[in-house]
Amino acid sequence: MLSDDQLDTYYEDGFVVVPDVLGPAQRIRLRAEVERLYTVDHPGRVLEKDGRTVRAVHGCHRTSPLFSRLVRLPFLVAAAERILDGKVYVHQSKVNAKRALHGDIWPWHQDYVFWEREDGMPAPRATNIAVFLDEATAHNGPLLFVPGSHRLGTVASGRRGGDGWKSNLAADLDYALTAEQLTPLIARLGIRAATGPEGSALLFDPRLIHGSGANMSPVDRQLVIITYNSVDNVPVEVPNRRPDFLCEPDSTALEPLIDEF
Ligand code: SIN
Ligand code: MN
Repeated sequence: MLSDDQLDTYYEDGFVVVPDVLGPAQRIRLRAEVERLYTVDHPGRVLEKDGRTVRAVHGCHRTSPLFSRLVRLPFLVAAAERILDGKVYVHQSKVNAKRALHGDIWPWHQDYVFWEREDGMPAPRATNIAVFLDEATAHNGPLLFVPGSHRLGTVASGRRGGDGWKSNLAADLDYALTAEQLTPLIARLGIRAATGPEGSALLFDPRLIHGSGANMSPVDRQLVIITYNSVDNVPVEVPNRRPDFLCEPDSTALEPLIDEF
């Protein structure tokens, strides 16, 4: 169970790292499944600019039986339900590969702006839970946060344009924040890196400003990000809805796994 202190940190800073959520056997099984997903040609599989290295695989809870179990891990569901104060379902899931020496940056951005403007999500009653498949260190492009920035609301102004939903996923990201927006905020609030051992879970608010640098190390920084949304916050109809692997149409409340993961 998420402790009261951990919940306070989440509300105060906008994020919290919880160690030891996945055990060694679970991580081995998940890593093997991730390696398999990297080889499957699917529109939700995104490559780095080199056209070869896998950058991310989206919608894994829809395509992989193991991931559909992962998102129902009792700790994860209970943490999301506690934060969102009620039943939840998965709006999005993805593996961010950030491969050794090849993984590219994620510019500074907030997530909720995508879900609000692209998917029609009524309110930021959602939460991200990232599960570390590798240790996140100072050198392999850990997630960086501007602590407390979740209280600022949406900072991004317009959409930068680009290639439809594909530019929601690339290193040249829609709704990336500008230097003018970031400089005074970071001067005031600072930057913190979310480092921690493999098997940790990192919970973060969808309005929190975040991004990550390139992986300069010879070690991967793979993580799974699961976005849980409140069942009372289901997106409304929008024109040009994004594909199901980016905007889950089934909002049935999740029941936690009963058996072993
Ligand atoms: C994200 O913002 O979705 C991912 C950032 C990262 O994996 O570093
Ligand atoms: Mn993000």
